[in-house]
Amino acid sequence: MAETTDVTGPAGASGPAQQHWIVAPGGPLRGTLTVPGDKSISHRAVMLAALADGVSTIDGFLEGEDTRATAAIFARMGVRIEAPAPSRRIVHGVGLDGLRAPDGPLDCGNAGTGMRLLAGLLAGQRFDSVLVGDASLSRRPMRRVTVPLAQMGARIDTAEGGLPPLRIHGGQRLQGRIHTLDVASAQVKSALLLAGLYAAGHTEVNEPHPTRDYTERMLAAFGVDIVFSPGHARLHGGQRLRATDVAVPADISSAAFFIVAASIVPGSELRLRQVGLNPRRTGLLRVLRQMGADIREEHPGEHGGEPVADLVVRHAPLRGIAVPEAVVPDMIDEFPALFVAAACADGPTTVRGAAELRVKESDRIAGMAAGLRTLGLRVDETPDGATIYPGVLHGGCVDSHGDHRIAMAFAVAAQRATGPVQIRDVANVATSFPGFDTLACAAGFDLRRM
Ligand code: S3P
Repeated sequence: MAETTDVTGPAGASGPAQQHWIVAPGGPLRGTLTVPGDKSISHRAVMLAALADGVSTIDGFLEGEDTRATAAIFARMGVRIEAPAPSRRIVHGVGLDGLRAPDGPLDCGNAGTGMRLLAGLLAGQRFDSVLVGDASLSRRPMRRVTVPLAQMGARIDTAEGGLPPLRIHGGQRLQGRIHTLDVASAQVKSALLLAGLYAAGHTEVNEPHPTRDYTERMLAAFGVDIVFSPGHARLHGGQRLRATDVAVPADISSAAFFIVAASIVPGSELRLRQVGLNPRRTGLLRVLRQMGADIREEHPGEHGGEPVADLVVRHAPLRGIAVPEAVVPDMIDEFPALFVAAACADGPTTVRGAAELRVKESDRIAGMAAGLRTLGLRVDETPDGATIYPGVLHGGCVDSHGDHRIAMAFAVAAQRATGPVQIRDVANVATSFPGFDTLACAAGFDLRRM
């Protein structure tokens, strides 16, 4: 195995160059926007296309730092990946056992999805590998994948506390088993299913709450015999993948910021074109509608096997609510945006059962609460959520803690502030939403880089 002293990789070692925004309150938001491709689907498309026999084309690929890091990792393992145009990749699959040993650590950047899914995929290889990440990823829990993978026979060493880097020992004989998870995580489920491709017998995953099923759907599209239903998936090992073309829909998690922005700014009307509406991702729409939001779906269709529609969002007065706990996994990435909607409602909003938010790219409960308090609101935290008390949002300086979704959420909050909001440390927005600032300005934000 290649040894290295640089365990955090290039971004983690020096940190991305600090960038900040200054966002002034503006007028109504208007226009038609197309947000970039879905991050979860883009990661999986590269992974499965790399393992397939034959050539796959991916359209709508997210040109974000996270997904580009995943593509670069497969290139380092001998997969030829062409990028003939933006958001298009042509992946020359090497087959289930065709990956080559990398010549050093593989840098997942900021991407939990990249690292956790790769942990499962690489556990079944004949060669050793090391997965590293940036400063944020290096703080995120990995035992949730390494423990169940070890139960299948994988050998993965972590740093103290179950943190990255992950040192994966190849050449292990994996054995399929029945996993019953105690955390609702599509990343964990997916890691186990990918390891299951290399395991003897059946691998089965049962979840406490159903999570996004992109890995299952995409494995099926690549010709794998897999049985799945909400909260359950099962496949048998040794199956080969057949190349196929993947069309990636627009990412609802990126659309979320504009959905909330149009909802809270009087006079706004935004159309978000052909957004992916997989039911395991649309929790925010359900919750906002319960709060009184005016969100219409037009031109429904299908894109790459996923339901899509234009979302037409108009300003509407919002009510504070108790967010039903059952909806939390279906909007797990949308809480920063929801906190901002809650800040502009007519009464308190309560979130519970969302402890996972504390182990995302940052502690999103603490980060959102701190920023909203800086802007003048009261937010009471609990270990698994918060109560947000709406009020007048003032200008001020908030820290994103390097978290892309917190940065974008405060750009939205600034639309309703009484003065400019400075948002510090926004470079990581490029991990999931390159071009957010340009699109936001096109919609009517007054956002400047500092
Ligand atoms: C993802 C699953 C979710 C989500 C993340 C992407 C995926 O994470 O927060 O942004 O692509 O599988 P968990 O599985 O940790 O809930």
